[in-house]
Amino acid sequence: MSGNLPVVTLDGPAGVGKTTLARRMAESLDLAYLDTGAMFRCLALKLGPGAELLPEEELRARCKEWTFSIAGKGRSAALFCNGRAVRGEVRTEEVGMLAARIGTVPVVRELLKAAQRAMGEASPLVAEGRDMGSVVFPDARFKFFLDAAPEVRAMRRLRDLANRGEQAELTVLTEQIRQRDALDRNRAVAPLRPAPDALIIDTSQLDIEGVLGVLLHHINVHGGARSLHLSSPA
Ligand code: DC
Repeated sequence: MSGNLPVVTLDGPAGVGKTTLARRMAESLDLAYLDTGAMFRCLALKLGPGAELLPEEELRARCKEWTFSIAGKGRSAALFCNGRAVRGEVRTEEVGMLAARIGTVPVVRELLKAAQRAMGEASPLVAEGRDMGSVVFPDARFKFFLDAAPEVRAMRRLRDLANRGEQAELTVLTEQIRQRDALDRNRAVAPLRPAPDALIIDTSQLDIEGVLGVLLHHINVHGGARSLHLSSPA
């Protein structure tokens, strides 16, 4: 248990299962859900390839054309960009790489951090990303950091794709994950790192239900969902 803000943070590298887990957690705890990766992905798609190379003031102005909001709780939670629901087109690996590139630019992080922070101060929520516990919500009540080896994450992704009838090469998926890890971990601003007070969970030997069990147990023994709903920001 960390700070006083009624927010649960879930950070970790690409393909570790954050999105599924954060949604399931939001559902179990009856909280709103903030997918900050989807914000970076959506912005990357709107700005297009190479946006990270634009002069700072031009990029600032272009980013400011897009505003984000969330609505709903648990299973029905959704992210909106300029009032329109952000959908599956942002979920490709290509858009993930574009998102990782614009995520290295300080002005992009500054603007998205302000939007994320405002949403977390407006209502209790589960926030997933790379720097939720370390930078955006250092005062969050519960902080988790999930990890697993790149090979394990690539194998999970291969299985997910196969379940959807899509084929892929394990070596290609592993390489994509390594490239994204390199961008996310080595950037100068808000690199992927566990917050000092985060609970770090190696998910290599666990399935989604197993990890969810660990997360919810930790919350339950430290005050439970009530502590997230009844308190107000410090
Ligand atoms: O979690 P994701 O795969 O949807 O995120 C896509 C990319 O967006 C990720 O590789 C880096 C960037 N990102 C970030 O820099 N900070 C966050 N809080 C969330 C995502």
